[in-house]
Amino acid sequence: MRLAAILLVVGLVYLTLAQERDPFFWIYTLHSMAALTADTTGGDCAAECDCPPTFPIAMYCDNRGMKQVPYIPSRMKYVYLQHNQITAVLDDAFGNATNLVWVMLHENNISTVGKKAFSNLASLHRLYLSGNNLKSVPASLPPSLHDLRLNHNNIDTVAPNSFEGMENLTVLLLSNNAIQDLGSSFKGLRSLTLLDISNNQLKKVPDGLPAMLHQLYLGFNAIDTVPRNFLSHFSNLQYVRLSHNELTNKGIPPSTFNVSGLIELDLSFNKLERIPQVSTSLEHLYLQANQIKEFTLGSFCSTVDVMNFSKLKVLRLEGNEITHSDLPSDSTLCLRLAANIVL
Ligand SMILES: *[C@@H]1O[C@H](CO)[C@@H](O)[C@H](O)[C@H]1NC(C)=O
Ligand SMILES: *[C@@H]1O[C@H](CO)[C@@H](O)[C@H](O)[C@H]1NC(C)=O
Ligand SMILES: *[C@@H]1O[C@H](CO)[C@@H](O)[C@H](O)[C@H]1NC(C)=O
Ligand SMILES: *[C@@H]1O[C@H](CO)[C@@H](O)[C@H](O)[C@H]1NC(C)=O
Ligand SMILES: *[C@@H]1O[C@H](CO)[C@@H](O)[C@H](O)[C@H]1NC(C)=O
Repeated sequence: MRLAAILLVVGLVYLTLAQERDPFFWIYTLHSMAALTADTTGGDCAAECDCPPTFPIAMYCDNRGMKQVPYIPSRMKYVYLQHNQITAVLDDAFGNATNLVWVMLHENNISTVGKKAFSNLASLHRLYLSGNNLKSVPASLPPSLHDLRLNHNNIDTVAPNSFEGMENLTVLLLSNNAIQDLGSSFKGLRSLTLLDISNNQLKKVPDGLPAMLHQLYLGFNAIDTVPRNFLSHFSNLQYVRLSHNELTNKGIPPSTFNVSGLIELDLSFNKLERIPQVSTSLEHLYLQANQIKEFTLGSFCSTVDVMNFSKLKVLRLEGNEITHSDLPSDSTLCLRLAANIVL
């Protein structure tokens, strides 16, 4: 009885910790707890890895100090190779394991990827290569990808065809690299909803941003101007982050940010002297650490129409050249929901 209780507690803690990993881990954990000593052969498996018998299409090889990609049996769909010291993914790394759906290779030290390493993985949905030593986007990535993570590498070149044909890609992380220019490499990414290119060396907003974007992160770059109407062709865009750039009011064409649908706009840590016009639908506006000298109510409400006030809830303006006394007395009519104005 006592042993059962201890096992239950240990099991619950394990489950709670395991939730983060993947949806199948639950099933795997439940089964393996029930059959702790029963079946131990999950079929062919790399010696360094775990292949749970009750979830035979997954191979767990994370955190084992591995220096190369192990042999991967052809039945595998999910391989976990993160947190190792792998330096290269060669052309034959996945051999006959062409059914792979998830390949986790983040937090290794990969600097070399064979030109054909991933090209036969026609069902690959998730490829995590974050936290490696890549200098460029690997060639011949499968167009089947849904989620591609390349953040925290040293990527400075992105070939124009890097993401070609990835019509189902919804998440693309390129943050924390050394990218200066993206050309028109986003062409055809018609399902992309999250694009993170923050912490790079972009001097301008990339051309041809995918129309289905919901989140666009461009913070920590060197952008000083944005193209006219660059936000007007999105129908789902809700979050735009442009903090820590070189934006001036001159670099922002009128009405750029007066687009309906936007919920959060981060323009903090730039060189703005005036508050740009924003849509009444906006709820969070970050303008701290600029050089704003006046509080223009017209930036939020064109006419102080009591029926059409701003939906702004949070407005941050600290680190500018204005104080509370610069707030016009009628601002409460327009900004009636803004419980949180930080000056
Ligand atoms: C891959 O499959 C081919 C054809 O089925 C077979 O000849 C070869 O031995 C397999 N390679 C490995 C490494 O299992
Ligand atoms: C990663 O690989 C580079 C060579 O590409 C090497 O200089 C560096 O020491 C390696 N880092 C670690 C943490 O193994
Ligand atoms: C995208 O998803 C659709 C629907 O699941 C599928 O038919 C199509 O083949 C996928 N495209 C690619 C390039 O994998
Ligand atoms: C409120 O103002 C926005 C622009 O700020 C406009 O698009 C919308 O039609 C207006 N709504 C009403 C009810 O007047
Ligand atoms: C935003 O644009 C709408 C038209 O779409 C216009 O009616 C409104 O006055 C503009 N808002 C501001 C704050 O200028």
